[in-house]
Parts: sequence; C-alpha cells; structure tokens
Amino acid sequence: MLDQLDQLKTQAVTDIAASADENGLEACRVKFLGKKGDLAAASAGMRDIAKEEKASVGQKLNEVRSAITAAIDERSAALTANRDAAALAGIDATLPGKPHPVGTLHPLTQVLDRAVSVLRRMGFALADGPEIETEWHCFDALNTPADHPARNESDTFYFDSGKLLRSHTSTVQIRTMETEPPPLRIIAPGAAFRRDEIDATHLSNFNQLEGLCVDAKGSVTLADLKGTLEYFFHAIFGDDTEVRFRPHFFPFTEPSFEVDLKLVIKGQKPKWVEIAGCGIVDPAVFEAVSQSRGDDLYSPDKVSGFAFGMGLDRLAMILFGLPDLRLLIENDVRFLRQFA
Ligand code: DAH
Repeated sequence: MLDQLDQLKTQAVTDIAASADENGLEACRVKFLGKKGDLAAASAGMRDIAKEEKASVGQKLNEVRSAITAAIDERSAALTANRDAAALAGIDATLPGKPHPVGTLHPLTQVLDRAVSVLRRMGFALADGPEIETEWHCFDALNTPADHPARNESDTFYFDSGKLLRSHTSTVQIRTMETEPPPLRIIAPGAAFRRDEIDATHLSNFNQLEGLCVDAKGSVTLADLKGTLEYFFHAIFGDDTEVRFRPHFFPFTEPSFEVDLKLVIKGQKPKWVEIAGCGIVDPAVFEAVSQSRGDDLYSPDKVSGFAFGMGLDRLAMILFGLPDLRLLIENDVRFLRQFA
C-alpha cells in the first residue's frame, strides 16, 4: 500500500509538472485530488488494511496529498508567470507613459486675470454693463456729438431698434455713475465691437479694459492717472518697460492722452505701440450723468476724475509676442497649447 502511494505521488508530480496550461493542470487536480480521484480511491482502501498499518498509511496519505497540492500550486504559479511574460513580450515597460492632455486658460484670459489682479491691488473694483447699448450711453453721455465719425454707420453695428453694439467699454463709466455714488474706482473688462476690416492688428469683436476713478473735486489729478498707468504697465510688462504719454483727443476726457509702450522683440528694432487712451474726465460727462441721475452728486463742481481704456487683445499681443491678433480667435490648438 505504501509503495502504491509513493507511485501515485511520483506519477502525480510528473503529470502536474508536464501540464501545458491551466486546463491541463485542472484536469490533473481532478484526477488526483478530486472527489472521485486517485487519492480519494486510495483513502477508501483504508477500510481493508490491517490495524497496525493504518497509522503509517494515514501518514503517507497526508504526505502524498500535501506533495500533490504543493506541486499544483507551484505549476500554477509558473503558468501564470509564463502568461504574464507572454503578454508583455515586445513591450518596454520602462518607456515613459503617454501624458494626459491638460487644458489651459486662453492667453486672453491669462492677460485679463493679470490685469485685473494688478488693478484690484490698487483699489479698483470690477464693474460691467451691457454689450447692446443705447446711443446715449455709447456716445451722447460721453460727450461725443452726433456728427462725430465714431457714430458713423460704417463704424458701428446698429440694430433696427436704434440700439448698437458698444464700440468701447467707456459706456460702463456712465452705467456705473448712474447707479453708484462717488467716490468710485472701477475697472470694466469686456467686449467691444467695430466695423473694422479684420487684419493682423484689428478685430471687429475685440476686448477692452476700462478704468474710472472719481473723487472730490481737485483730489484726482493727472499725476494720479500717470502713476496708476505706469505702475500698471510695469507690473504687467516689467519695470524696464518704457511707457510714453502722447497728447491726443478723446471727446470724454480733457486733457487726453494716448499711451504707448516700447515693444522690444528679440532680433527686431524696438518700436512704440499704442496700448491705451486716457485722460481727465471731461466736465461734460459729469453733466450728462448728473442730468440722468437727477441729482448733483456728480456735479462737475463737486467731483473730478480720470479714465482710461486699453485693448486687452493688444496687451496679449505684446505680452506673448504674437504676430497676429487673429491667432486669438482662431482656436487652433497648436497655438493655444503653447500657453499651457
Ligand atoms: N474708449 C476709447 C477707445 O475705445 C479708449 C479710451 C480713451 C477710454 C480715453 C478712456 C479714455 O476711458 O479716457 O478708443
């Protein structure tokens, strides 16, 4: 009996080691360890053997069972390892993984965020107004007479109702003064529209950032305006950036200036680019606001102020060295990806 069991063990271990795959191994398990398997049959034979031998045969049975179980486990591990190795064949697990594409803020949004954060540090609060405006808010209240070229049909988009797409964000100056009492320090970023021919430096739908500071008469000066804008442009473009104020005309400010930045691009001759308009708020604007409000809080005898407006697209163009404004609206991912 003991010899028989040894033979069974040898045969089982040999068959198991030779099993080619998981199915073969399972067949071995059933054959040797199954309920109707060889080992079960041998155990059943215990009934017929002599009492004295029972202990040693029992021991042998256990030994054979453990040996077969161990052989099955070992073969199973080996088969799994083989299968894993086959699955990985030809794959270099040390190669870098494929990166997940990560979204990014549009360059205009990045410029806007920076501009707003600098101006908020100086105490300017965000304000806004509608993009579809009345002629009065866009022009009359801003001291722009009916015969001013900016009001020409070929310059602005008019609706049949007589309303128009605002041609600048200066409308928000009026909107804010109509509803808020002085003193005021606001900025209003937003869209503006003009019937411009679209080219590398002009879009018909563009973005501006308006600023307005109003306080007691005599307390807001040209020096405040200049200091504010110089601080702003240095904060955005670096302290070395040259800023120039050039006398100009705007109906709603007097005196008025255009602000130029010296644009230095590697390998190119530095050039001045116009970036903003600004000035001391014209008393006529305060008169219009006073009339609309029906009180004298904004009477030109009581308040003075400065205002500025700049093109955000231009700002982005200079900040990122863009050769063409149209890049900002084409949404070509090859372009946008560079700002991640
Ligand atoms: N609204 C002007 C434009 O669109 C820009 C501007 C000039 C805004 C002077 C101002 C200002 O607030 O004071 O060209």
